[in-house]
Amino acid sequence: MAVFRSVVQRKLSLTLPVALAQRRLASSFKASDLSVERNPKPAAKPDPSELVFGKQFSDHMLTVSWSADSGWDAPCIKPFQNLSLHPASSALHYSIELFEGMKAFRGVDNHVRLFRPMLNMERMHRSAVRSSLPTFDKGELLECIKKLVALDQEWVPYSQEASLYIRPTFIGTEPSLGVTRASQALLFVIVGPVGPYFATGSFNPVSLLADPSFVRAWKGGVGSYKMGGNYGPTISVQNEAVQRGCQQVLWLYGPDEQITEVGTMNLFIYWTNDNGEKELMTPPLDGIILPGVTRQSLLDLARTWGEFKVTERTMGMQELLTALDAGQVLEVFGAGTACVVCPVGSLLYNGKTYHIPTMQNGPELAKRFYKELTDIQYGRKASEWAPLVD
Ligand SMILES: Cc1ncc(COP(=O)(O)O)c(C=O)c1O
Repeated sequence: MAVFRSVVQRKLSLTLPVALAQRRLASSFKASDLSVERNPKPAAKPDPSELVFGKQFSDHMLTVSWSADSGWDAPCIKPFQNLSLHPASSALHYSIELFEGMKAFRGVDNHVRLFRPMLNMERMHRSAVRSSLPTFDKGELLECIKKLVALDQEWVPYSQEASLYIRPTFIGTEPSLGVTRASQALLFVIVGPVGPYFATGSFNPVSLLADPSFVRAWKGGVGSYKMGGNYGPTISVQNEAVQRGCQQVLWLYGPDEQITEVGTMNLFIYWTNDNGEKELMTPPLDGIILPGVTRQSLLDLARTWGEFKVTERTMGMQELLTALDAGQVLEVFGAGTACVVCPVGSLLYNGKTYHIPTMQNGPELAKRFYKELTDIQYGRKASEWAPLVD
């Protein structure tokens, strides 16, 4: 018996540290370990009426490093600063990079709120898995982000037109050129004030270029993940759209030219269907569409209202053009964090411009969605979708 016990003890003493180490490596960083180094030189806050998207940043940033050898470091908030990266970092060579886009809003009651932030955390986690980057506890990351926003809360504009944009980012910092899983990684979050999407305060409809020779994402690919590699290659297509007199790209897919997304927004069509019913349609999450937080929110609201049919299904260009021709289409709009909803006024396809009567129809539904979501975001309407950060 004594011999047996000593063998077991010896075995345990050998395997326990390994097991503990593995558990430590697998686990997430924790918000309770967060350290804060305050910026001794806070910058002057810009005038909310002069904000340009993505150009101004707050005084602090959040960083959390990871390595295969030691797991997650403790998260830290520190003064906003440049990163120092090895020139072979895998993010720079193989786009091992992913990000999120979310906002904090200063409400009518002066409290700062986020909008359905767990949906962003879940999407970021999925992107990390697909990028072979380490996973983390989504709730712990959200707590760290709340602490960053609370520290920089004076950067949340005192305006119900503007907001604080939050950019969580995750990069591979593997310092070697092998095309392999990153053995080192850096998760960081930067934030900065942004102005209203519609500068005039009114809805301005956008014109779209629909050219099937350009494809944003494909089945089996990574279009449903928010990875940097999905965005860089779209810039030349966006420039092409501008050269052809359009403002955004309507991304088509496959031989039946399925309508997928608009620029960096999900697409919605409100129409009278062939059965004479009012119907809100958006393409399904079939792997080529980014599962937008705004998209989900519009679907949730519309289903709660229960006033018209709500359908997630594919629609091809020909079906849309036929419906337009027959006067069935009421509103077409994009949906995303940047603008909430963005009406579409026309479509350039095969050299012909098609008018879309979104503005002539109000746009009643797009405006209703806009009001409902911004009422929640700015605390004009109480909702569990908008948790406080302070
Ligand atoms: C390709 C793409 N589709 C849709 C969206 C809208 O997503 P969300 O509503 O989460 O901003 C975005 C913006 O993040 C996007 O980049």
